[in-house]
Amino acid sequence: MTKKLFIKTYGCQMNVYDTERMVDVMAHEGYQVIDTPDEADLVVLNTCHIREKAAEKVYSDIGRLRVMKEKRRKAGAKDSILAVGGCVAQAEGAEIHRRAPVVDMVFGPQTYHRLPEMTRAADKSKSAGDRPRIVDTDLAVSEKFAALSKKAVAAKKTAFLTVQEGCDKFCTYCVVPYTRGGEFSRSFEDVMADAVKLNEAGVLEVTLLGQNVNAYHGHDVSGTEWSLARLIRHLAEVTDFKRIRYTTSHPHDMTDELIAVHGDVAECMPYLHLPVQAGSDRIVKAMNRHHTVAAYLKTIEDIRAVRSDIALSGDFIVGFPGETDADFQATMDLVRQVNYAQAYSFMYSERPGTPAAGWDDQVESHVKSERLAELQEELNRQQRAFNDNSVGQTLPVLLERTGKEASHLVGRSPYMQAVYVDVGDGALAEQYFGKLVDMKIISAGPRSLKGEFVG
Ligand code: SAH
Ligand code: SF4
Ligand code: F3S
Repeated sequence: MTKKLFIKTYGCQMNVYDTERMVDVMAHEGYQVIDTPDEADLVVLNTCHIREKAAEKVYSDIGRLRVMKEKRRKAGAKDSILAVGGCVAQAEGAEIHRRAPVVDMVFGPQTYHRLPEMTRAADKSKSAGDRPRIVDTDLAVSEKFAALSKKAVAAKKTAFLTVQEGCDKFCTYCVVPYTRGGEFSRSFEDVMADAVKLNEAGVLEVTLLGQNVNAYHGHDVSGTEWSLARLIRHLAEVTDFKRIRYTTSHPHDMTDELIAVHGDVAECMPYLHLPVQAGSDRIVKAMNRHHTVAAYLKTIEDIRAVRSDIALSGDFIVGFPGETDADFQATMDLVRQVNYAQAYSFMYSERPGTPAAGWDDQVESHVKSERLAELQEELNRQQRAFNDNSVGQTLPVLLERTGKEASHLVGRSPYMQAVYVDVGDGALAEQYFGKLVDMKIISAGPRSLKGEFVG
């Protein structure tokens, strides 16, 4: 008998990748994914701890799930198993059981390959009352990948492939080094085995993932070190991937070798997510970012020299402790200088256990919101201008999903812009779904482009 699994994913692409792997391992246990938690035998929350809002959302979701479980029990159905995984689980561990006794299992980002055993143990007991409380937040990464790569890979046209995990940078605001552990690069052979599997399953676009993906330095069996740049060149040579992307990169690890790849590897897409966080050296230093603003701008200049059309993206934090109006204006200046195709921006959020959380020069919340609004207005204007500039161009689009309306197919341009096309009914959708096609861009909106087929 098949069992039902509901997984909710919060946070970054690493979590999206992890969720896909959990679906793989649980498929081997007879679990099928469903879209709502109501009928699920196993509910997994794959959580994010990066900002307070993200972490608190998990507890309100747990509250709703508690009511749902109660209803199921009253209706005489078997009690569902509630598991909290991901970065909140790693950060809070057994504290989650104390705050939310309804939770059966807590496991971190590096232990989800043991989900089958944990679930079997929880499944043996009839109700939550006599279930063992499981907490598994070990941080040893290598064992996980070894266990996972034996399992099947889902076949889609685009796929994530984690090559690196964790972080040693310790930015003073960030929880990631604590929730994901230290930097770990998978071996060259492991990465290639997964890449070949994806390629054979028909994947056309692969995104290499890591918290600091450009710090990748996996070894091969002979002990030789592979940089991300070499890995991308090799993938372009030996696989049929039409598109290769990578994210997220740290400015400190943006080497000349990697910049050169953007100039001469056609499969390497002209899009770079390179967070700078702030435009004032004083703040960047206090954040422990390991680079100066000038060095960041030089990297941008170098990359534009080899690939002038590259779409640049970034992350920004406003209201970091001690940020003055002048510091914030330096961020605005930098943004105007770089001219982003898109970007993410956040108000600084104090995170437990990080150095900056204890500092006494916290910025008032209304100041943070004012700065965020000013920054986002400029970033939105830049994104709109970048999109407007695409109108009239013919761009290859990988049509990978249906859109808001049933007659829409949606895909990404080389620059990561969402492009949709109205295919009317049936036949065209069949013909173009999952294909990489040239499209003429006929109009632009703030977040997406509209295209039509060429010829
Ligand atoms: N490894 C990546 C990003 C990891 S987290 C990098 O170094 O760029 C994604 C983004 O969340 C960060 O780039 C940062 O902009 C934001 N972020 C992280 N911690 C934060 C905090 N405490 N408050 C607000 N934003 C935060
Ligand atoms: Fe966090 Fe900084 Fe590491 Fe990025 S580089 S994950 S922001 S500590
Ligand atoms: Fe969030 Fe963990 Fe990713 S904290 S951003 S899910 S690495």
